[in-house]
Amino acid sequence: MSKKPLNVGLVGGGKGAFIVNPHQKAIHFDGTRRVVAGALFPDPKIAMEEAANWPYPIRGYGSYDDMISANQTLPDDQKLDYILIVTPNFVHFDPAMKAMKAGIPVFCEKPLCLNLTEADELVKVARKLNIPFGVAHTYLGHWTSRFARYIVQSGLLGEVRWVDSYYIQGWLASKLEATGQQQAAWRVDPKRAGGSGCGGDIGTHALMQLRYVTGLDVTEVSARMETFVEGRALDDHFTIYCQLSNGGKALVRASQICIGSKNDLGILVAGSKGTLRWRQEEPECLTISLPDQPDRVYWRGAVAAGDGFLPQDLPANLLAEPTIPAGHTEGFHDAFARLHRAFEADVRKWKAGEKFCCDGSQYANIEDGWTGIAFIETCVESSKHGGAWTPLPKGATT
Ligand SMILES: NC(=O)c1ccc[n+]([C@@H]2O[C@H](COP(=O)([O-])OP(=O)(O)OC[C@H]3O[C@@H](n4cnc5c(N)ncnc54)[C@H](O)[C@@H]3O)[C@@H](O)[C@H]2O)c1
Repeated sequence: MSKKPLNVGLVGGGKGAFIVNPHQKAIHFDGTRRVVAGALFPDPKIAMEEAANWPYPIRGYGSYDDMISANQTLPDDQKLDYILIVTPNFVHFDPAMKAMKAGIPVFCEKPLCLNLTEADELVKVARKLNIPFGVAHTYLGHWTSRFARYIVQSGLLGEVRWVDSYYIQGWLASKLEATGQQQAAWRVDPKRAGGSGCGGDIGTHALMQLRYVTGLDVTEVSARMETFVEGRALDDHFTIYCQLSNGGKALVRASQICIGSKNDLGILVAGSKGTLRWRQEEPECLTISLPDQPDRVYWRGAVAAGDGFLPQDLPANLLAEPTIPAGHTEGFHDAFARLHRAFEADVRKWKAGEKFCCDGSQYANIEDGWTGIAFIETCVESSKHGGAWTPLPKGATT
């Protein structure tokens, strides 16, 4: 018999919302998860209208409070198996906390929340309740990110000396928020975005990519957070020199004012034996450079063990992981699907009373979310002091 699909409830996603769309496609990707409910908008009347107009039938709620409390009395087969939070950053903490306390696992957009006080609380409750909690760092979901992580962490490139992890965009090069553009408006507002604009929005992705691929932590930062577009309260350009936990160095950089750049997230890892390069705009391949050899380009699903660089004992689960044959292109939506697939596996184990993994190897977990917020707060502090070297707080990861 096939598995009963998991029931997912949306928090946010109505009226021209952006990131709900890739998520809801990813939820339906495998036929084992489905969106069944939503609290889609802050205004209860509009929330209900949006739910009624959703492209497939869902239960609409006037607020996430209603959705979470109604869940308690639903028959078992209609109860939510997890909620997906796709609201602006200032509406992450409250629904996440309430859902966990009501026994509903949470998959939350990044950055985790607004500040470290909120992040501390979320980590405390998630750990106490031992409940699955994922953070949507999209780019970890590419098979090539998994492969890059294997290559670097199995030591094939030697000791990591230098990492350049970046996310460069150009869509906020002018004052788009003045036009009322929905996604720009809240991202430049400290009350709704948090202590950093560009850094919180996309610098956290660059940080997470570095940590996921290398397994290293950033221990200290010298930060320059700049604002090029006049009248903005938050940074639109974010350049962070980092000390890594193995003694190496890194640059974590992000910008939203580079005209022509779209979603140019990428990573270069320079080790003592070779260098890896990967870009999300060309996510199907990564490049390895070894001394005095032509570059090797590895494509998703078309790698061979024992090829002179990769060892014979490549992990079976890594090789088994691609979803469609090589050359049938995967992209952004597939990355989201890989995250939801992994989160589903953990939710199913948790429901069965089994040990679930949630260890950050398949998707970012609550501790990763905490680290993103700790990084941002430390960068703000360092930048205020002209880029003074500032240590990250020890906390969720220690
Ligand atoms: N992982 C990624 O690649 C990625 C990409 C884009 C955005 N994001 C993150 O996703 C989140 C949303 O970003 P977006 O660009 O989709 O924003 P958006 O403005 O397009 O959508 C936000 C949605 O939340 C709704 N909302 C706001 N307050 C609400 C409330 N109290 N109750 C119910 N709904 C409410 C809005 O009406 C809207 O539907 C942000 O945290 C952002 O950082 C992540």
